[in-house]
Amino acid sequence: MKIFLDSANTKEIEKWLCYGIVDGVTTNPSIMLKDGIYNIEEGVKKLAKLITPLPLSAEVTTNDLKEMMEQAKWLASLAHNVVIKIPVENEFGAPCLGVISQLEKSGIKVNATAIMSFGQLMFAAKAGATYVSLFAGRINDEGGNAAEVIANSVAWLDDWDFKSELIVGSIRSAGDVISAALAGAHIITVPPQYLDKIADHKYTRVTVKEFIADAQSALKMMDKPKS
Ligand code: E4P
Repeated sequence: MKIFLDSANTKEIEKWLCYGIVDGVTTNPSIMLKDGIYNIEEGVKKLAKLITPLPLSAEVTTNDLKEMMEQAKWLASLAHNVVIKIPVENEFGAPCLGVISQLEKSGIKVNATAIMSFGQLMFAAKAGATYVSLFAGRINDEGGNAAEVIANSVAWLDDWDFKSELIVGSIRSAGDVISAALAGAHIITVPPQYLDKIADHKYTRVTVKEFIADAQSALKMMDKPKS
């Protein structure tokens, strides 16, 4: 299973890259805004360079399908490791599957995003998306069962040998990460604060404290003259 960082915060990305557990980075316009990246061209170039050769997902910002194609080509030209996030449909309900299909056919990798159902995921995979991003937190917000959708989707993709990898996004807690992993997600994209929580356990700290205290006691015993 791969872990992506759902962030545009360079300090956090550097930190988690050093830990050796990050396989890529995803962003969206809201994440860019939150992390202070207002100039998309500069931001994408900087992040892509920082994580190269790992994949960086950057999202188009228009409802117009023609403009989406143009933006996608432009974003992809900024660095070799940029993957283009295309929503499965625009805000008016027009499917963006044709854009996904054409980009993939032209050699540009697509992360089909804002997927809320198994049906949408099926179509995005059929359109040829390299990644299909299921929004677990938002599915649960609406009373859905994200773990069930993840398990069904992974089983279906694997049964039919689709190339698409399932990314679980919209993570709202450390528990969401564990549920997604156990439901079989190929990739989970995680905001850094939840990685910190998963890495830590109070009882690990207490245990390490005991071991260090006993090691120090042993050292003191070594210095004592034998009677
Ligand atoms: C990741 O690819 C998504 O853009 C992100 O996880 C969405 O998260 P949100 O539902 O918290 O906006």
